[in-house]
Amino acid sequence: MEFDVKDVKLAFRGKNKIEWAEREMPVLRSIRKKFGSSQPLKNLTVGACLHVTSETANLMITLKQGGADVSLCASNPLSTQDDVAASLVKDYGISVFAIKGEDNKTYYNHINSVLDKGPQISMDDGADLISTIHSSRKELIEKVLGGTEETTTGVIRLKSMEKKEVLRYPIIAVNDARTKHFFDNRYGTGQSTIDGILRATNMLIAGSKFVVAGYGWCGRGIAMRAKGMGASVIVLEVDPLKALEAKMDGYEVLNSEEAAKVGDIFVSATGDINVIGEVILKNCKDKTIIANAGHFNAEINLDYLSKNSKSKREVRPFTEEYITKDGRRIYLLAEGRLVNLSAAEGHPASVMDMSFANQALSVEYIYKNSKDLACKVYAVPEDIDSSIAEMKLKSMGICIDKLTPEQEEYLRSWEMGT
Ligand code: ADE
Repeated sequence: MEFDVKDVKLAFRGKNKIEWAEREMPVLRSIRKKFGSSQPLKNLTVGACLHVTSETANLMITLKQGGADVSLCASNPLSTQDDVAASLVKDYGISVFAIKGEDNKTYYNHINSVLDKGPQISMDDGADLISTIHSSRKELIEKVLGGTEETTTGVIRLKSMEKKEVLRYPIIAVNDARTKHFFDNRYGTGQSTIDGILRATNMLIAGSKFVVAGYGWCGRGIAMRAKGMGASVIVLEVDPLKALEAKMDGYEVLNSEEAAKVGDIFVSATGDINVIGEVILKNCKDKTIIANAGHFNAEINLDYLSKNSKSKREVRPFTEEYITKDGRRIYLLAEGRLVNLSAAEGHPASVMDMSFANQALSVEYIYKNSKDLACKVYAVPEDIDSSIAEMKLKSMGICIDKLTPEQEEYLRSWEMGT
C-alpha cells in the first residue's frame, strides 16, 4: 500500500483519537453498520481531499466498510493530524498522503498521488482535487462518476465552473445540506475558531473588542461564541441585509476603518480575498491579533503585512509577531490559514457526524444514480438531509411531535381564514 505520512510510529496516539471521535459520531456509526452488511460501495474507488482529522478518519473507515477503495490527501497544508494519518495507514489500511506543514509542492504531489489511483468519485473540501482533475489531470475525467464538496468556498468555485460550462461531472454540494451548514458552519466554526485562538494565544476573550468579518453561517457562529465569552463583538459586512441582521442580533456594525481603530482581535470568515487588508492592517492598534477562519489564507493580505513590516518572529506556536515599519506589533495566527484546524483540531466530532453522514450517503447516491446526473452542482437530496436530522435526534434520545391529520389537512387547505 502506498502512503506518505510523517511517522507511522505515531499510530497509537492517532488510533485513540479516532476512537474518541467515533464515540461522538452515532449517525456515521449507524451508516457504517449498514454499509458493512449491504456493501453499497463495492468496487468503487474514492479519492478524498479533506482535512486529515480524527473525524475524517471515521468517514474514511465508513467508506471502506461500505466496500470502497479509499485514498486520502489533505485539503490544507496545516490541518493534518499526523498521528491520525499514521493510524489510518497502520491500523486501517487506508492510503494517506498528508503531512502537517507540507509545502505547496508536496501538497500538490499528494493530491496527484490520490489522483494516480484513478478515483471514480472525488471528495473535496475547497475544490483543489476537482480543480486539479479539470486542469492538469483531464485524462481522469472519463472515469469519474461524480464528486462531493464539503465547504462554502468549494461550492462557490464549483458553481462558477458550472456557470462557465467547464464542469465535466456532477457534484453534490454537501455544504448546502441543512444538516451540514446550520450546525457545522455555525456551531462547529464558532467553537473551533475560539478554540484555535485560545490555544495559539491564551488571551482573555472577556472584555476584548472582537471583530468578525463576514456574517454568514460561520461568522454568526464565531460572533455568538465570542459574545458568550464576554467580548464586545463588532461585525464587518458588505451585504446590507446581513449587516442589519448582525445589528439586530445585538452586535455593533462598523466598517473596516472604524473597526481597525478599536478592535483587539480580528477574525475573517468571508470566503473572499484581502478582507483583513490594507485598511485594517494600516490602521489597527498595537498588539492587534489577526486570524482567518475561511478556507483559504487569501482572506488576510499577507503580502501587504510582510512588505510593511520590518521584522517577524514566532512568539508562540501558531503565533507570529510582525513589527510594522511604524512600530506596531501585529500578531498573525496560524500563518493566516484556517485557525481552527491549524492551531486547534477543527470542529468537534458531534457536528462532523452530520456533515460526514451527508458525505457518506451522497457518495452512495452518486454511485447509484450517476447515469441520471448532468454536469451540474446538485443539492443533497431532501430525504437524505431529513433522515440525518432524524437519526441525530434519535441518537440524542429526543422525540418530537408529529402533525395530526387535522393539522396536515389545515396546511393543505386555503379556504380556512379568520
Ligand atoms: N472541517 C472543520 N472541522 C473539521 C474536522 N474536525 N474534520 C474535518 N474537517 C473539518
